[in-house]
Parts: sequence; C-alpha cells; structure tokens
Amino acid sequence: MKVVSLGDVRLAVEDRGRSRSSSEPILLLVHGFPLDHTMWQPQIDYFGSRGRVISPDLRGFGGSSNAAGSPVSMGTYAHDLNALLDRLEVDRPIAFCGLSMGGYIAWQFCAKYASRLAALVVCDTRSIADTPQAVAGRMELTKRVLAEGIDPVKAAMMPKLFGPETVAKQLPCIADTVAAIERASPIGVAAALVAMAGRPDMTASLAEIRVPTLVVVGEHDVISPVEEMRGIAERVPGAEFVVIPGAGHMSPLENPAAYNAALERFLREKTGWA
Ligand code: MLT
Repeated sequence: MKVVSLGDVRLAVEDRGRSRSSSEPILLLVHGFPLDHTMWQPQIDYFGSRGRVISPDLRGFGGSSNAAGSPVSMGTYAHDLNALLDRLEVDRPIAFCGLSMGGYIAWQFCAKYASRLAALVVCDTRSIADTPQAVAGRMELTKRVLAEGIDPVKAAMMPKLFGPETVAKQLPCIADTVAAIERASPIGVAAALVAMAGRPDMTASLAEIRVPTLVVVGEHDVISPVEEMRGIAERVPGAEFVVIPGAGHMSPLENPAAYNAALERFLREKTGWA
C-alpha cells in the first residue's frame, strides 16, 4: 500500500500491476460503505496480474485519514479520486468501477471529470436520492456511531449485504467483511452517512453519460434490487446490464468468477484492455 497526501487528507491506496499497452485503461476500483479497498481483493488479484489496478481507501475508511470537522459529500470523494490520479501521474483514461457508495461517487466523477473516463462500471448502486425516511434512519445511525462506536453500523449493514447462498455456505467473504467494518473509523463512517443522506438524485444525468457503461447487480441484492438497476442501465445510452448469479449486494466478492468474467469481457470489447 502507498500513502498519498492530498491537502487535508492522506489516502492509502493499492496500486497494483502495469499496463501492457498504451491503449489499455487503468482500472480504478472504488469501494462501498462502510468498507475499504479489501472488498475488491478478488479483482485486485485478477486484474492486477493483467494490467494496472488502483484501489484506494476513501477518506475516513481503511488506512486513509479523516479530515476532522470538514463536511463531506459524494463530490468530495470524487474530487479526492481525481487528485489521487494526478498524484499517481495517471495520464491515460481510466475505467471507473464503483460499488454502491462507490457508484454514488461514480455519478459525481462522471459529471465533473468525464474527460478522464474510458469506461464506467457501476455495481449494486442507485441513482435516486434517499427518501425522507432513509435520511432519518441515517441521521439516527450517525448519532449512534458517534456515541457507541461501529457496532450499530455493523448490525444495520450485515443482514443486507449478502445473498442467501453466500450466507448458507458461510463463504469467507462474510468474515472478511465483518473485519473491514470493525476496522472502520466511527468519524469517517458518520461523515459518509451524512454525505449519503444528502446526495442528489442523479437519475436525470444518466442520459448524458457518453462512455461505454456496464451496470452490474447481484441476483439477490436487497439494497439496489435487480429491477432498479435494470432501470439505470436502460437510461444510460448503450449500457450493458449483467446480473451476477447467486450474489447479493456484494456481487464482486460473492461470485468473483462470474463478476471478473463479465468485467473482463466488457473491458476487452469496449476499451483497449488486452
Ligand atoms: C454501500 O454498500 O455502499 C451502501 O449500502 C450504500 C448505502 O447505504 O446507500
């Protein structure tokens, strides 16, 4: 892991592999809430032995610092990622791949830094804003995480993350995810909860996306269900839509073979990925 200083924060980043040709995009993997880059381990291992993969911990998560007292938005995380790419001297287009909160950030990155993109991959995410009820739930959880630590967040998230087959088989990714949540900083998690509660509805912007786009969802995702994700794919011009069998919300982690095959085929067909 490298640690890169960006003004008010330091971001920890896994920067793995090398591009094999000048036309090959760099794959940027952006994690969901309340996790860190380790949720992408099967993709870092697979794609990092074939090309260059960059997977940071967002501010306030994993090995990255918080900027205490500074409010955060989805745009802040997108700004951090753009600055990180500059600091890593990334001078070629990227394939931005975000899961759930990473997808909320992807919409902001697309709106502000589209010229950096060779392709977009959005997984198990939503384009709509939170309902008033969801905002109230996040605010209550924010208070609790600041008062009690990470346990209430673990209790709220764990039952929603995995599909029934993953749970029945007790796949090791469940314990890995618990460990990632337990490592999370209450301050970073609280800032992200407030940021997600305040995120805008980006549905109208989907029709403006001009890069090849892959929309991926786990068959049993209960946070961003299949039909909602299909609706996102239908709004993005030319987008492809893939359902990952047997997976819930954590599709890349629960069924990495199917996920990696879908992502690799898309990158080969739509970008210079070799
Ligand atoms: C995530 O996986 O990033 C979260 O489920 C997003 C959310 O809580 O809306």
